[in-house]
Amino acid sequence: MNEGERLTELAKRRGFYFPAAGAYGGAAGFWTYGPQGAALKDNIEDAWRDRFVVQAGHQEISAPDVMPEPVFEASGHLDGFDDMIIECAECGATHRADHLVEDNTDIEEAESLPNEEVMDIIAEHDIECPSCSASLADEPVDNFNLMFETNIGPGTSSPGYLRPETAQGIFVEFPQLAEYARNQLPFGVAQIGKAYRNEISPRKSLVRVREFTQAELEHFVDPEEDEPPLERVADVTLPLYSGESQQADDGGVEHLTVGEAVETGVVTSDWVAYYLGIARDWYERIGVDMDRFRFRQHLPGELAHYASDCWDAEAEIDGDWIEITGFAYRGDYDLKKHAEHSGQDYTVFKQYDEPVTVERPTVDPEMSYLGPEFGGDAQAVAEALERLAETDPDAFESDEVSVEVDGETATVPVEKTGFSVEEITENGEHVTPHVVEPSFGVGRLIYTVLAHAYREDEVDGEARTYLALPPEQAPTTVGVFPLMDRDGLGEYARELAAALRQAGHAVTYDDSGAIGRRYRRQDEIGTPYCVTVDYESLGEPEGDADPADLQADTVTLRERDSTAQKRVPIDGLAETLGRLVDG
Ligand code: GAP
Repeated sequence: MNEGERLTELAKRRGFYFPAAGAYGGAAGFWTYGPQGAALKDNIEDAWRDRFVVQAGHQEISAPDVMPEPVFEASGHLDGFDDMIIECAECGATHRADHLVEDNTDIEEAESLPNEEVMDIIAEHDIECPSCSASLADEPVDNFNLMFETNIGPGTSSPGYLRPETAQGIFVEFPQLAEYARNQLPFGVAQIGKAYRNEISPRKSLVRVREFTQAELEHFVDPEEDEPPLERVADVTLPLYSGESQQADDGGVEHLTVGEAVETGVVTSDWVAYYLGIARDWYERIGVDMDRFRFRQHLPGELAHYASDCWDAEAEIDGDWIEITGFAYRGDYDLKKHAEHSGQDYTVFKQYDEPVTVERPTVDPEMSYLGPEFGGDAQAVAEALERLAETDPDAFESDEVSVEVDGETATVPVEKTGFSVEEITENGEHVTPHVVEPSFGVGRLIYTVLAHAYREDEVDGEARTYLALPPEQAPTTVGVFPLMDRDGLGEYARELAAALRQAGHAVTYDDSGAIGRRYRRQDEIGTPYCVTVDYESLGEPEGDADPADLQADTVTLRERDSTAQKRVPIDGLAETLGRLVDG
């Protein structure tokens, strides 16, 4: 078994995650988080919320999962959110064509290649259908839109889509959100919620699924004025795998501080560099192994339709690099698209400190006598002249000015345009904010944290598996056991467990089987501390122990990784554990 398979086996056995609706054969790409997985997911989401919302001073919203079609027409998803699909003529199985290329050749990023090239590579390498081994050499590669479609209400007149990214739920509400932020840039809006993609080939358990949770932050900034507080992260060292390194034969990961990455221009957007710095330390906090981690820059052909610079955080598992987060500079793409399609105002009004007088060049649209001289289309010529006055007033400085209307050039004497420069007073201007977006996939974070925490060793001559999760992230923080459930030990331990729960600990009480087995069960779910109640806890001597050595109302406290044990008093135990777990 490889690392991922071992992990998924443990995950199913110990209640982290398992295929959904297994009783009915399930559906590929849908997973249910069991009790341990759901608790770990909550912990990771809480840690994200703490760092990217609360500490950062941003706001969190919760938008619907289903939105009407015009939202995705505007965002570009309806037209362009496609993957490359190839269907086997022999068995009818469908596959992601770019993945087949990556799996069967040494090409690493086939997603960025055009369909025809992918088809040629499949033919050239005579790549076979993974389901039935028939040749795929003559099959076409098509586009497949990944959005799940539905109908809003009865009938089909109102199509809707399950959102393929939570981000659109933020962008579409920008007018309300800007008003809430009193039109003051910069401001950030975050959302943790479900996203849905009808992936052609779900794979690697939580890595490529059809329903997943994203934690996304859309940080709206004034491109002219707002700078990130780079000094706060300037010394954080980033493992950077730049576009240039990827294209060089011997290129590899370069370790640069955020300050160096910005100075040398390896990361072009200061805002993206800032978030790489914040995120790097956060990944370490939640248990991503920094020796199996890098930031990889997107190659130009790989950039999403909206992004001008993008870096992925990637984690290594089984020798593959898995994208766990995308950091994109989305510019004003989304807000401009929603403004254009909805006709609503997606800008903020930036008030000047003092009113300013500006010159506004205009032409007189009433000068319709231009008409007969230019084929009668006076309106079109006047509009073209108006646009030219706005964009290039210097063009009106000579005697004649040329404009293009429907491919024809009209040359107009300037005196016949009614050109003038008015002086007007302005109190501010409308600005379409730019967006910097860190977008985290929660399922892939869970998978990475578990895979990087997975350990095997030997304790007292016996093999054991344990998860070395950071105590703060562990789904269960304390296991409480009585040595045996008799002579009052069980009652004592159950009361202790209840008291610890009341103090906020995530406690599992277990009295079944040998104590060693109970430790192993907790080790496998990554419980950092176990507490055992024995006869000494009750103040009763065991065997020929000397009563004078007894420490009543004490328990043994065992640490997961070292398996070291010590006796600690019950008094103050909840606080002691709290300090240990929070670090
Ligand atoms: N709003 C930007 C956006 O959605 P993305 O790179 O497509 O960007 C962001 O997705 C993150 O969502 C990825 O880094 C990944 O962690 C997660 N993700 C995307 N597709 C996924 C899938 N099919 N299964 C699991 N996680 C996925």
